[in-house]
Amino acid sequence: MRVFVAGATGVVGRQLVPLLIDAGHEVVGTTRRESGMQHLRAQGVIPLRIDMFDHDGLAQAVAESAPDALIHQLTALSDWNLADNARVRREGTRNLVDAVKKAGVTRVVAQSIAWAYEPGDTPADERMPLDLDAPEPRSVTIGGVQALEDIVSEIEQHVILRYGLFYGPGTSHAPGGRTAQQIRDAQVTANEGVTSFVHVVDAARAAVLALDWPSGTVNIVDDEPAPAHEWMPVLAQAVGGPAPERVAGRAAWERGADNTLARTKLGWQPRYLSWRTGFADQS
Ligand SMILES: NC(=O)c1ccc[n+]([C@@H]2O[C@H](COP(=O)([O-])OP(=O)(O)OC[C@H]3O[C@@H](n4cnc5c(N)ncnc54)[C@H](OP(=O)(O)O)[C@@H]3O)[C@@H](O)[C@H]2O)c1
Repeated sequence: MRVFVAGATGVVGRQLVPLLIDAGHEVVGTTRRESGMQHLRAQGVIPLRIDMFDHDGLAQAVAESAPDALIHQLTALSDWNLADNARVRREGTRNLVDAVKKAGVTRVVAQSIAWAYEPGDTPADERMPLDLDAPEPRSVTIGGVQALEDIVSEIEQHVILRYGLFYGPGTSHAPGGRTAQQIRDAQVTANEGVTSFVHVVDAARAAVLALDWPSGTVNIVDDEPAPAHEWMPVLAQAVGGPAPERVAGRAAWERGADNTLARTKLGWQPRYLSWRTGFADQS
């Protein structure tokens, strides 16, 4: 199949491209940067330099590429600006879906998140509603997620991957990343809030498999949702920092997510079963 990967140079895109090529797919991949073009060429991808906010240019590029499927791995998190990221989710996704519709593409796989569920005390499964009553600033993220998921659902065959928090090469949790540095600088505390993680290799594996999944929304998280006071000391050890100070309390939505659907019905199982061993393998 010819697969159009929007966001081919991001932390998931970089892992995804070789897996798609190994699986026999032809890959068209996007970036805004010349360095990204070179990287994609070297990976054996047909590179496309395009900004997702360029509605007409994108429509033309997708039409000329004539893909069979779209994998949407766009985010704008390099500067940790959640408003920028929400804009990419709303406007970038709108433009992308308009473009693939016009080109007659009927299959899309898209990146969402597994921590947008309403408050609760247990890991959320896919039937739980999104946290649409969240106050600011969380409402900015939830609004972006809702928009992305609604727009992607306009395509006949759509799989929305609600990913856990990423770790692995290039992420903020890797030794060179932002969270790792904050831990080394003793700038963070460890509360009781529960997080579900996923290694970017497992995130990419799910996107390849999802090309053949039925339409729907799927949590892609590892097997061990855990409170910060459990996972942070393990991450601190992996990145060479002091164990963060433990504090009480959590936000009510910090509940983690459940991977039963992906694991038991769709044939995806994480290679990195838990952050407990995975944090040491991020290069
Ligand atoms: N679930 C999660 O935990 C999660 C999800 C996503 C990201 N993150 C974190 O966020 C940080 C940054 O992620 P990242 O390295 O993947 O970078 P990023 O800046 O979020 O970019 C991701 C991809 O989107 C593309 N992109 C962004 N805006 C675009 C636009 N307007 N037009 C076209 N393409 C656009 C980028 O292409 P270019 O080559 O043009 O930059 C890149 O391919 C990392 O620490 C990562 O772990 C976490």
